[in-house]
Amino acid sequence: MLSEIPKRAEQADKKEVDREILRVGIIAELDAINLYKQMAEAASNEDIKKILHDIAAEEKTHVGEFQALLLMLDKEQEQELEKGRKEVEEEISK
Ligand SMILES: [Fe+2]
Repeated sequence: MLSEIPKRAEQADKKEVDREILRVGIIAELDAINLYKQMAEAASNEDIKKILHDIAAEEKTHVGEFQALLLMLDKEQEQELEKGRKEVEEEISK
């Protein structure tokens, strides 16, 4: 499911490659959150569970770091994210 960074990055638009790197970073962090939460549920040792839940929370911070950078470099993404948020608010308020 993971996306690929263009193999010939030197021939691609460098700004678009930067945006692709940030999107892949977000995917990786979201996948890590699911992995650590699944591992926490599977673990029987309470210390392991606790640390895995703590690490999963840290991965959410990493999502935020990549997203903050992406929104600076991809104004369309910023606009569409806001559009999506408003659509959800409208739908759930009905
Ligand atoms: Fe991370």
